[in-house]
Parts: sequence; structure tokens; C-alpha cells
Amino acid sequence: MDTRKTLRVNEAGHLEIGGCDCVELAEKFGTPLYVFDEDYIRGMMRVYRDTMKKEYGDGLVLYASKAFSCEAMYAIAKQEKIGADVVSGGELYTAMQAGFPAADVCMHGNNKLPREISYALNCGVGLFAVDSPSEAELLDAECEKRGRVQDVILRINPGVEAHTHKFVQTATPESKFGFSVQSGAAEEMTKLLLAKKHLRLLGYHCHIGSQIFEKQPFCLAAEKCLAFMADMKKKLSFEAEILNLGGGFGIRYTEEDEKFDFESYAGYLGAIIGAVKAGCEKYGLKRPRLMIEPGRSIVGEAGITLYTVGAVKEIPGIRKYVAVDGGMFDNPRFCLYGSKYTAVLAGRADEPPTELVSIAGKCCESGDLIGENMSLPEARRGDILAVLSTGAYNYSMASNYNRNFVPPAILVKDGMADYIVKPQTYEDLVRNDAIPDRLTARR
Ligand SMILES: Cc1ncc(COP(=O)(O)O)c(C=O)c1O
Repeated sequence: MDTRKTLRVNEAGHLEIGGCDCVELAEKFGTPLYVFDEDYIRGMMRVYRDTMKKEYGDGLVLYASKAFSCEAMYAIAKQEKIGADVVSGGELYTAMQAGFPAADVCMHGNNKLPREISYALNCGVGLFAVDSPSEAELLDAECEKRGRVQDVILRINPGVEAHTHKFVQTATPESKFGFSVQSGAAEEMTKLLLAKKHLRLLGYHCHIGSQIFEKQPFCLAAEKCLAFMADMKKKLSFEAEILNLGGGFGIRYTEEDEKFDFESYAGYLGAIIGAVKAGCEKYGLKRPRLMIEPGRSIVGEAGITLYTVGAVKEIPGIRKYVAVDGGMFDNPRFCLYGSKYTAVLAGRADEPPTELVSIAGKCCESGDLIGENMSLPEARRGDILAVLSTGAYNYSMASNYNRNFVPPAILVKDGMADYIVKPQTYEDLVRNDAIPDRLTARR
């Protein structure tokens, strides 16, 4: 297990995060429970923000809120003076409820709904990343009605493949996102947007995938975007002012993944910045305002999930299941992508692992696992099990499947622990249910 100042094994041999003993957290708040380390989140935001400022100057870091969206996250991002990327009316509403400045929001989505476009305009969102011709029409018409001009960037697909799970690749030719540079679609969309009276095209966006450890795909994507920008300058006399390179930086889930600390993330962004500077020089472009949209790398390793071990079932010669009180409803990533995690028994975190087990959820679904072949000391009913690096794409992908509760989330720092997402109740589960009269009428 990787430790750091705010995630360590304490003197009692218990797992501790943000100065809080995980066994005590489980007792106080119950399980399953998402726990977020505030210092780690702020540390990552600062690394990106400061590196951008020091090494590039005119740039903006946008927290990709799809990784974990709740009001407290936008409150932290606001305090840390970074922007946010949102992909739905719901994420935008959450940001607005937290008092986040709309001007620092970039609105994404391959199929923004008319009501989402209208809501985002009413909020005064700073930037739209346009991703279809019909969206451009809709947005332009809505702006005309309001007598205003909206800043936009165009999502392009530079054709860079990143080495990650194929379901999380977004910039290959068949992707539903963006417009291909290679096919000429990106140029056509540039022309279309430049002709819109109520839209001001400021530049381009690309996002090449997620959980990427290599710098080269990002540098290559930057180079290709800049080459395209130079082409548009030559052909259409359009000089882009913004280049948004999206998110996608990897995090450590298991020992198989590279270990990045704050400094390595700074070096990572530094390399991309170097590629942007070099590309601008190569193509004779003035340096655009640079944006990045990290999500997973800001919250992923900041979060852990605490569970209580229930049934333990051994199928001799085949596998041993350790069942917990959570499952695919709080973490669907194993079911979706076969994702791997590291698990620790929070009350015996100093004990060496002795066996490989499958951690099963409590859903009525045989594929409902948190992971396979996870090394643990012998787990017993009542043990608190911590799964590490669950901060990103867990809560945000959670559901009420089997009418289980989406677990609450707490934020920990220097021994303090506070709810940032309160527990659900049975009443919450039926709040929006309705029974038509004909189902209750007597015969
Ligand atoms: C447009 C866009 N920006 C940013 C991100 C964040 O990526 P990550 O969480 O891997 O940093 C995503 C993730 O899919 C995305 O689609």
C-alpha cells in the first residue's frame, strides 16, 4: 500500500486518512462510506494551477467535475481559483448552488439538451465546447433571442490514440466526440462556427482519453492541434486564442500502475506545456490561452471507500469471496471496465496479505464485484475494508440499483470529518415514485 502524510498506517495499526482513524470513521458515520482527503484534493489543484502559471502564464485549469461532483468540490475549486468543466445541467446546477462563478465554467457534452443550453446561457457560462452542427444552430438561435454573443470552442479529434482501456478512449476516428481533423470535418465546423453571428469561436478542445500515464500522446495531440490551428490561420485567417487539451492523466490504483506524486504531475504538465510552446514556435503561432481539464488525477487518489465485511464464502480450489455492504451501486467500475483496485483491512492495516480474494458486492447480480485477485490478510465478518483510489468515477457513477443507498461522502482534514454528501434514507428512495389511481382503485 502506498502511504503519504495524509494516508498512512497509524500507531494502532489502523488505516488513517486526513488525520482520522478509518475504523472510528466507520463507527461514527457507518458504511459504506466515501472518504475524501481535502489536503490531497487541494494539493493536486495547486500543482496544476501553479505549474500552469509558472511555466506557461496565460492558462486555466478546469476541474473536470464529472469525476466527482458535489457542492463542496466546487467550493474547494473556487477557493483554489481554478475553473470547472461540466457536462450536464445537473453538474452546472450543483456548481451554481455552491456559488461557483459561471464565467469560469466550460460546458461540454456531445448532445447538450435544449434546456441545458438555455440554462447554461441564463447562468452566464463562460465557454461552450461545441460538439455538433445542430448544437451550433441551437446555441446561435438562443443567443440571438437574448441579444448576446457567446464564446465557444470547437471539440476536435486530432486522431491520437492513447494507451488505455478502449471504453475510455475518446479521440479515435470512430469516437462520438469531436470532429476529425484528418477528414476535414473540423475545418467544415470551423467555417460553420465562424459564420454564426451570435457565436464567437475562440479556439479548440480535444480530449484523448483517460487514465493515461505516457506524456507522448498528450504532446502529440497538442502538436496536431497546433498544426490544425496553423492550417486554419492560413486557409481561413482564423487565429485561435484558446487551446484546451482536456484531461486524462493517470492515477495509481494498484502496484501495476506508475506512482506519481505531486512533483511528477507538475513534470507531466510541464512536458505538455513544453510541447505547446515548441508547437507555437514551429508553426509561427502566437501562444493560445492554454486549458487543461483534469478530473481523475485531482480526486481519484484523494478518495477511499470504507465497507464492512459480511459473508465470506470459499469455493474450494476456485475462489474465495469476501462480501461487503457495498458493490456495483457505489462502484460500478469493475463491471464496466474490469478496473483494478487495492484493498486494505482498515483495522489491521499493518498485517501482511496472506491470500487472494474476490471482493463481492451485495447486489443481486453475479458480476457485482469490486475486484478480483485482491490481496488481503484473512478477512472476517465485521472487519472494515478500505478500497483505495475510489475518489473519481465512483460516487459520480453510483446508482440506487436494487434500491440500495448511494453512500454518503465525508471530507477529512487534520482529524476533522464532515459530510459533503449526506446519507440517503428509505424515504429518499420513494420520493419520486408515483402510483396512478387506476392501480389503487377498487374493482
Ligand atoms: C472533455 C473531458 N474533459 C476532461 C475529462 C476528465 O478526464 P480525467 O478524469 O481522466 O482527467 C474527461 C473525461 O472523460 C472529458 O471527457
